[in-house]
Amino acid sequence: MKTLFETLENARKYKFLGPAPLEEHLKNGMGFIEVLNRLSFDSQASHRLIDLGSGGGIPAFVIAEKFPHWSYLLVERKKKRAEFLSWAAENPIFGGNIEVFFGEAEKAARDEKFEGKADFVTARSFAPPPKTAECGCRFLKKGGFMIISEPPKTMDRWPKTGLVPLGFEKIETKQPDFGTFQALELRNFPDQRYPRRPGAINKKPLW
Ligand SMILES: C[S@@+](CC[C@H](N)C(=O)[O-])C[C@H]1O[C@@H](n2cnc3c(N)ncnc32)[C@H](O)[C@@H]1O
Repeated sequence: MKTLFETLENARKYKFLGPAPLEEHLKNGMGFIEVLNRLSFDSQASHRLIDLGSGGGIPAFVIAEKFPHWSYLLVERKKKRAEFLSWAAENPIFGGNIEVFFGEAEKAARDEKFEGKADFVTARSFAPPPKTAECGCRFLKKGGFMIISEPPKTMDRWPKTGLVPLGFEKIETKQPDFGTFQALELRNFPDQRYPRRPGAINKKPLW
């Protein structure tokens, strides 16, 4: 059975992880857990988390190792990465409750199997803010949270006028020891139009 670190070493070997040392990737994954822990909910209960653009498995596998009793959907449009994720997800340290969707997040969000089912959506280096929020909104239950890893010392990238049609409201959370994050809460179900098709989102982002 591989450890989390060995799994990420494999991801690195296939160039599915960025050039930073593995320890840095792991710490950023732990940052997601710190932010999750600051939202008030019972982490011992079963929850559903969807990770957008999972790539080499950060933050999804770091979170799954910590909460193996949750269920997960990892969304990835590149075939080789999706195959890697499916292979790695079989490791019992991740709890055996991980499904991989090979395809666009915009398409997964329109699948009624996944729509409105998630307690949490995570995204790290997935896409610019308007696309990330638009792709994530339809997966969430009302009251669910989206957590996005942000560049350090960034300006506010999440304007209220852009978030309202998606049903999101910004949540201020204390920043963890490692990494910078933005949390959004789904206060209302998104307008039926969202998410639009990938071409439309890229051509005309919401902000
Ligand atoms: C820069 S990588 C980040 C991967 C991982 N989250 C990490 O931080 O190491 C972005 C990943 O998102 C995937 N991706 C980008 N847009 C996507 C979309 N619309 N639907 C599904 N996957 C997408 C890419 O194929 C890529 O693997």
